[in-house]
Amino acid sequence: MVGTERVFYMDKIQWNQKFSVNVKEIDGQHKKLIGLLNDVIRIKEEKLKFDATGDVLSELANYMDYHFSTEERYMLKFSYPEYKLHRDQHVEFARKTIGFLKKFREGSQTITDEIICFIKDWLLNHILNHDAKYGPFFNKNGLF
Ligand SMILES: [Fe+2]
Ligand SMILES: [Fe+2]
Repeated sequence: MVGTERVFYMDKIQWNQKFSVNVKEIDGQHKKLIGLLNDVIRIKEEKLKFDATGDVLSELANYMDYHFSTEERYMLKFSYPEYKLHRDQHVEFARKTIGFLKKFREGSQTITDEIICFIKDWLLNHILNHDAKYGPFFNKNGLF
């Protein structure tokens, strides 16, 4: 992508009430994910060494996995009608991020701003447009 340096220069994400799905455990996990993503952005900005980047990316990928399992477990428990569609999104995203991580580990890929942008956009979009949908449904089933 051509353009100014700032195009992909990432601002850190501030937690905002609009991200809330009104389920305490899940909001807590989303906050943690945003925190990890901010760590990735900070490391990239400060050009910290390879190990630090790899560690935080691994932690992000692992925590993402744990988080997706939590959401899917509740969806199954309450027979959420959009389970399949939602799960497919998780699987597709995980496949891509694990791919990045693998290439990074092999040394054939650096963590570019485009990759961080992709993860950031996906995460925020997913929370706002898809996770937000199950909030009222989970609430109706007694989960807050
Ligand atoms: Fe989520
Ligand atoms: Fe989700």
